[in-house]
Amino acid sequence: MAQDDTRHYASAPAADNTIMFLFGASGDLAKRLLIPSLYNLDRDGLLDPNMKIVGVDISEGDDASFREGLTDFIAAKAADREAEGGGNALDEEHWRDFSQRLHYMQGDFTEAGTFQRIGEYIEQRDGNSALFYLATAPRFFAEVAENLGQAGLLEEGSDYYRRLVIEKPFGRDLESARELNARLLSVMQEEQIYRIDHFLGKETVQNILVARFANVLFEPFWNNHYIDHIQITAAETVGVEQRAGFYDQNGALRDMVPNHLFQLLAMVAIEPLAAFTADALRSEKAKVLGAIRPWSKEEARENSVRGQYRAGRIKDENVPGYREESGVDENSNTETYAGMKVMVDNWRWAGVPFYLRTGKRMSARDTEITICFKPAPYAQFRNTANTEVEHIGSNYLVIQIQPNEGLWFDFQAKRPGPTLDMDTIKMGFAYKDFYDLPATTGYETLIYDCLTGDQMLFQRVDTIENGWRAVQPFLDAWEEDDSVDGYAAGEDGPESAHELLRRDGREWHKVGEVTGPGKAPVPGGQRRK
Ligand code: BG6
Repeated sequence: MAQDDTRHYASAPAADNTIMFLFGASGDLAKRLLIPSLYNLDRDGLLDPNMKIVGVDISEGDDASFREGLTDFIAAKAADREAEGGGNALDEEHWRDFSQRLHYMQGDFTEAGTFQRIGEYIEQRDGNSALFYLATAPRFFAEVAENLGQAGLLEEGSDYYRRLVIEKPFGRDLESARELNARLLSVMQEEQIYRIDHFLGKETVQNILVARFANVLFEPFWNNHYIDHIQITAAETVGVEQRAGFYDQNGALRDMVPNHLFQLLAMVAIEPLAAFTADALRSEKAKVLGAIRPWSKEEARENSVRGQYRAGRIKDENVPGYREESGVDENSNTETYAGMKVMVDNWRWAGVPFYLRTGKRMSARDTEITICFKPAPYAQFRNTANTEVEHIGSNYLVIQIQPNEGLWFDFQAKRPGPTLDMDTIKMGFAYKDFYDLPATTGYETLIYDCLTGDQMLFQRVDTIENGWRAVQPFLDAWEEDDSVDGYAAGEDGPESAHELLRRDGREWHKVGEVTGPGKAPVPGGQRRK
């Protein structure tokens, strides 16, 4: 039955009064995602009526120009159903009220004067709590935090908080991630830091825990006795878009794996929690990421694939190759596709490979986790006429993160008829059949949690460092040999990506499909001639 309440948090209380300082307020992230999320939260009554949002950036401006620029942008986006978080009707009256909360402070992130003015701003207000959101280029993260610290703005009181929010990338490798964490922790406590991974704002990602731990059905089979392997895919049809400057320096591995893909892996692979608390969840995640086998450089090369898209066709449109994109070095060997096999060396997952892949310009937008179960241990029906019993399909559970949010399960059923024959059929749950998911940016939950002090969906220092530790061998191997295998835009990675699974006798789940891959052989089964 569809739920008719489309409010995002129908039953949640409004967050306490605070000031949010939005560093990088003129940037894309602030405009495209953060301000619209704050508007949505306000529309749902989840912000304190006195909360202020102060944009801080180097460009010239004042409250009026800041509000005006955002009004035009938000109205255009609200009208555009295709845009991320778009199609979300803009209530003009509400926007007018909301925009009165928006203020602007011109300031250089590297100058002490900016932080002095921020201090004065806070002092003029009744409440003392502040949330510092760094929607800036990553090079400013540590410096802004240190400047806030030096200005005394990170000291908390018994009745007010000071919190810092940062976005990925949290470093470029293990060493730089450690350095960033050390610098942040030299001026504040871990409990004050909210490291955002926007994948954790997705309902379907949070649902993994509910599916696993609120049902008795899955958990008994959720281990190496029954699971053959797990695939995690984040396929995109978009290319490098306007982000060549960032992307060409980073590539698909750094952009997606230690953060988003590892968060999906962690949600699927963690142990049940001792308590439903932020620390218990983050400790389990840190443990499982820490259990990823550290490949040697040679093993990392052997168990991974670097790809780069060439010109091709996506949805009937010709698109240029990566090296032809504006802002990309014409000889660039940056990968736009990363595929790899990792092993989680613990009791539950010993021997179960996790295959991860992510790429730009693939055939479809599809983020999913496919749990591939082992085939039935014995071909029960092998003496039956007309049955290709050596090819009984395995069971697959596809957790579809986006689009087509839901969960699908492949299993065997008897094909109607006088002889015993079987087909692989599917059973599914689609979010849209049960809920009217409101158009959101995906940041609402995360911002609300920052405002209410819930760190459950944020990355802790140890999960970050364990993630980079697992990725480091791939970085090292790829630095030594940075060759990339080409794939035409519209294809699902280079041939070597398919080879990576084929050599293990497996195949990737088809991108964009919710059912499992074809039929797998059953040990012990024999076709009757
Ligand atoms: C970002 C990456 O973190 O995630 C982008 O930097 C990528 O390259 C994006 O496109 C994918 O997020 P989503 O929510 O669209 O799947």
